[in-house]
Amino acid sequence: MKLKLIDKKTKADIQIVIVENKKIKQNKQILKTLKFKGELEETILLPEAQIIYVGCEEVNSENIKLACSAAIKKLNSTDFKSASVVCDDVDAAVQGFILGDYSFTKYKSEDSKDIEKTIYIQIDKVNKKAQSIFDEAQTIATSVNMVRDIVNTTPDDFYPSIMAAKAVEIASKNKLKCEVYDEEYLDKTGMHSMLAVGRASRHKSKLIHLTYKPKIKAKKKIVFVGKGLTYDSGGLSLKPSDFMVSMKSDKSGGSAVLGIMNAISKLDLPFEVHGIIGAVENMIGGDAYKPDDVLTARNGKTIEVRNTDAEGRLVLADCLCYAQDEIKDIDYIFDLATLTGACVVGVGQYTTGVMGNSIMSCHHAVKSALNCGELATTLPFNRYLKKTLKSEIADICNISNTRYGGAITAGLFLNEFIKDENKDKWIHLDIAGPAYVEKSWGYNPHGASGAGVRMCLQFMKDLNNK
Ligand code: BES
Ligand code: ZN
Ligand code: ZN
Repeated sequence: MKLKLIDKKTKADIQIVIVENKKIKQNKQILKTLKFKGELEETILLPEAQIIYVGCEEVNSENIKLACSAAIKKLNSTDFKSASVVCDDVDAAVQGFILGDYSFTKYKSEDSKDIEKTIYIQIDKVNKKAQSIFDEAQTIATSVNMVRDIVNTTPDDFYPSIMAAKAVEIASKNKLKCEVYDEEYLDKTGMHSMLAVGRASRHKSKLIHLTYKPKIKAKKKIVFVGKGLTYDSGGLSLKPSDFMVSMKSDKSGGSAVLGIMNAISKLDLPFEVHGIIGAVENMIGGDAYKPDDVLTARNGKTIEVRNTDAEGRLVLADCLCYAQDEIKDIDYIFDLATLTGACVVGVGQYTTGVMGNSIMSCHHAVKSALNCGELATTLPFNRYLKKTLKSEIADICNISNTRYGGAITAGLFLNEFIKDENKDKWIHLDIAGPAYVEKSWGYNPHGASGAGVRMCLQFMKDLNNK
């Protein structure tokens, strides 16, 4: 699909009409007969009039995205090649069309996509400002779609060294610095927590570090750390078969970091941004790490392993230590991870759990998420849950001794690897729910959604406007 921004009427094959507040202005009789009410995401095609009507109800940017997503799906079910739409909210229209147009066809033998469609978005005046909003929205939405492609790719086609290669590719396209560290480096620098998780896999673990530096002196330093489990079988604490399906999505946090880094250089923000990914495969075998093992992380803390399926936190612990050792004077450090099933149980499939020591920063992250159409909510830490991670034989245990509050206890585990000076700068995002849903929702498709990308980019945009 191609998008064009215009300010004069153009001749397109078909017109998309966004129906606001259920107020139908033309073709009233036929639309009534066809029982079109103009409800949100409701579409109808009048072939003779060459119009697609799409309901929007109350006009706000989220509803415009949903309407445009529904409209492009309707257009895709036809052979019309071009469409025009009058819409002032350029950002929402662009994102709605691009995100709604996504489909994952890599493994389909027949190419189901036909000729490329062109959509003309008509506004009052195409000026510099409008053009830049248009470009930025395209950058963000195409980065989200790139992440969806990565996450949907199967574990046999996307393993740690492929993730590293993808990072190198993104870096060279966007003029970023990219370092890839292998297991020898992990061993030498004491990252034995991360190393242990990948030990039984035939794919060697990789630590990936991307850096963006703005042309002017950076006003802030922001770090994104991603869980890149290219597959999570659970390890020796093996997942039941039904729960193992979809665990290719355990690389969603790391993939979101790739998406953020892919977009950042085009957004022209005065921030130095780092993207760090622990790319690892959690498998079983004679060399697998075991429940009962005690691992030593990069910061010297010892971890009693009681469940090898709580592996994400082991990888992130070392990656967080790496980030804080290597990057000085951090302003914000985020981690993004499909960390716990408990988070999905607690807040539902569509919502990200936001945790940290600074309630203010957590609220800012939630606000940015809601601003750009992602769902997020805070989950507060407390000292009683912290105590449930105590180990009798090591400094900390990788699972809690209670089955309650699993998303928070996982967050509290990570907190043990945050240095004192960064305590209030750290924000943990548990994206286990929204990263991968096995049915479509709004402008998100079945499977990977690219959760985390838009909210983190929005957080930086909001920070810049403060
Ligand atoms: N990758 C899973 C979490 C997950 C579950 C992500 C469902 C997406 C959907 C994680 O590594 C895991 O297995 N966590 C365990 C932790 C438990 C052993 C304390 C879980 O949530 O059950
Ligand atoms: Zn696991
Ligand atoms: Zn996992």
